[in-house]
Amino acid sequence: MKIDPFLVEQYLGAYEDSVDLNIAETCVDPFALGEFLKFAGREDFLEELKALRLTYGHIEGSLNLREGIAELYDFMKPENILVAGGAIGANFLVFYSFVEPGDTVISIFPAYQQLYSLPKSFGATVKLLPLREENQWLPDLNELSDLVDSKTKLIVVNNPHNPTGSLLGADDLKQICAIAEEADSFLLCDETYRGLYIRPKQSIPSAADLSQKAIVTGSFSKSFSLTGIRLGWIAGGRDVIEQCKAHREYTTISNGLIDDALATLALKRKQRIFKRNLGLIRTNHLILSQWVEDEPLIQWIPSVAGSVAFLKHSLKMPSADLCLRLIEEKGTLLVPGSCFDMDAYLRIGYGCKTETLKSGLSRFKDFLNSYR
Ligand SMILES: Cc1ncc(COP(=O)(O)O)c(C=O)c1O
Repeated sequence: MKIDPFLVEQYLGAYEDSVDLNIAETCVDPFALGEFLKFAGREDFLEELKALRLTYGHIEGSLNLREGIAELYDFMKPENILVAGGAIGANFLVFYSFVEPGDTVISIFPAYQQLYSLPKSFGATVKLLPLREENQWLPDLNELSDLVDSKTKLIVVNNPHNPTGSLLGADDLKQICAIAEEADSFLLCDETYRGLYIRPKQSIPSAADLSQKAIVTGSFSKSFSLTGIRLGWIAGGRDVIEQCKAHREYTTISNGLIDDALATLALKRKQRIFKRNLGLIRTNHLILSQWVEDEPLIQWIPSVAGSVAFLKHSLKMPSADLCLRLIEEKGTLLVPGSCFDMDAYLRIGYGCKTETLKSGLSRFKDFLNSYR
């Protein structure tokens, strides 16, 4: 089966282990295992795990895990949750379960490439719904309505959004749900970065709580800082979960029992974890905002959620050359906009440790000073 190269994943895979300073990542300062257990007040946890029989375990994910995930929503129950291999596995399963050749899939652009390249590879006609800087990187919903046709199977959005850090509010989300309902198509809302809001007290509903037609994917990689357990999930109606389960049996059987146990523990400590992570991203966002304000070669629409931002550069060189020189001359990693087919931009991640962000921005500043 033909598939386009996944540019951002290839780029990170090529460079992230060899640079001094990674300010390209999307994760929020992932825990070391010992650090997590201490943070959770469960340093005895590994001892307890020794009794765990390493069978396939619970096929859909343990009941405790699915109960904990369901509590992240207003109206979801454990039977509305299916555990998957990261949000990437969850998204894959949704496309694999629903998209057939000849279907239309409407996806936002720019976006995490999986959201438009994968349905294309499954034979769908993919129509791109542009997110524009002048519209705060949000979709024009009239444009979305115009793209819908009789073959539209899925509308795909990502909220909060990678790579721009934009955030659809409740009204827009409701309207998108209404468009999907009217078209009798599904809405896939990738909510991998849910909960990571820069403004205090911000709260945005999950699409899963707004419409029977919404299928939501979520993750332990970002707001829970447990990227290495590789767990995510699908939340949706019973029929959606059944359809995904039927396809999952051919790819997964079950997820890892140790990962399941760690994720269940994280859900029990979610308030503490979210507090840690919101503190970190808000501090880092402020540092980044001040840096951008002082830097004439860089502009942005400030990100409002998630852990990434899209910076517009005015250097007279392709973004790939800029990022390669930044790696070679300053040992610092950013993602070139070319990985998102948007060459004038760079993606920065501000979920890293504050010292890493400060040092990375300082080296980027040195690089820009040498260019001036
Ligand atoms: C929008 C989006 N969806 C899904 C994923 C995959 O996340 P996970 O680590 O949960 O597989 C990412 C990772 O960066 C992402 O940005």
